[in-house]
Amino acid sequence: MADPEPGPKPHVAAKWADFYNRGFLPWHTGAAASQLHAYLTQCPAAWLEHGDMQPDQLHVPLTPPLSTEESPAHAAAPQAHVCPRCAPLKPPLHGAALEIGCGAGASCALLARLGRRAAGVDIASAAVRTARAGVARAGVAGRCVFVQADVLQLPEGFCWEAAQRLEQQQLEQLEQLQQQQQQQEEGASWELTATEHLKRERGACRGVTADPSSAASGGDLQQQQQQPRPGFDFVADCQAFHVLWDQDPAGAVATLHRLLRPGGLLMLLTGNDLEPDCGPNTMSEAELRAAFHEGWEFVWLTQSRFDETPHYRDELGKRPLAWWALLRRL
Ligand SMILES: C[S@@+](CC[C@H](N)C(=O)[O-])C[C@H]1O[C@@H](n2cnc3c(N)ncnc32)[C@H](O)[C@@H]1O
Repeated sequence: MADPEPGPKPHVAAKWADFYNRGFLPWHTGAAASQLHAYLTQCPAAWLEHGDMQPDQLHVPLTPPLSTEESPAHAAAPQAHVCPRCAPLKPPLHGAALEIGCGAGASCALLARLGRRAAGVDIASAAVRTARAGVARAGVAGRCVFVQADVLQLPEGFCWEAAQRLEQQQLEQLEQLQQQQQQQEEGASWELTATEHLKRERGACRGVTADPSSAASGGDLQQQQQQPRPGFDFVADCQAFHVLWDQDPAGAVATLHRLLRPGGLLMLLTGNDLEPDCGPNTMSEAELRAAFHEGWEFVWLTQSRFDETPHYRDELGKRPLAWWALLRRL
C-alpha cells in the first residue's frame, strides 16, 4: 500500500503557524521544562527509593527554570548527574535525543548542554527558526538539529542522521528562497519544500528500519555497521504529546513507539484532567495508562505543574496541572 502523503496537515500547520505569527505563546517560558532539568541533573533513583513512597505518588521538588531569558546561555551551566543507581533511568550520555513539538528549543538546548545530541521537530517554521537561533546563542548548535515537520508523519526509521539530512536540505532551500528575495512568499514555499523533503527522506530511511539487535552476518553485518541505527535513545515531550493526542490518539502513541529504540526512554509532560478547563488539553490517568498499556512500561507517573508563564499567571491564576511520566519502550 502506498504511504500516505507526507507533510503537515494544512489545518494543523496553519493553526500553529498562527500562534507564532501572533506571538501568542501561552506555554512559552524561554527555558527548558524544570522537570526535564530535574530529571537530567538529579538522581531519579533516589526519588523512587525515597521513604516508602510508591512511584505513582512520587513528589519531586521542582528546580527553578533553567533561565527566564530567551537564551539559555544566560543560565548557570547545568551539571548532568548519572550514578550507578540512576544510570538505567537515564538516556545514555552522548546518546541521541528527540524533542517532539520542540517550540523554541530550550529543552533541546538543555539536552545538548548536558552532553546529548538533540533533534527538535516542530510543525511551525517560526518555532524551528527560533530554536536554531537559541542553540546558536547557547553555543550548542553543533549538538542540535531542528526540522520542520509533522511528528506524526516522520518517516519510518527516522533517526539522528536522518534529522541532520533533513535539516541540511531545509536550510539549503531556505537559503535559496532568501537569495531569490521571495520573503513575502516564504511561508507557503517553505511548507511545500518541507513536504517534498519529507517524501525524499522516507526513501532514505527505508534502509535503516532493521532492528540492529537482530542476527546478522557477513555482508549483512558490514552493511548494518555502516548504517545508522533507527530511532532515538530518548524522546522528550514538554506539552506537545497532548497536542498530538488531540490530532491522532492512536497515531501519537504508535509514532512515539517507533521513534524510540527498544529500551529507550520517553519523558512525558502532559495536561492533567484533574483540573479541567485550565489551559492546555488534558488527559485522565486512565487514558494515559490505557494509551501506553502495550509495549511500554511506566517507570513513574506522577502529578506536577507546568512552569509558570505570564499567561498562566495573569490569565489562569495558576500553573496548569500536568502528568509527568517516565516510560520505557519495551
Ligand atoms: C504547547 S507547544 C510546546 C512547545 C515546547 N515543547 C515548549 O515546551 O515550549 C506545542 C508545540 O507543538 C508543535 N506542534 C503541534 N502539532 C505538531 C505536530 N503534529 N508535529 C510537530 N509539532 C507540532 C507546535 O507548533 C508547538 O510548538
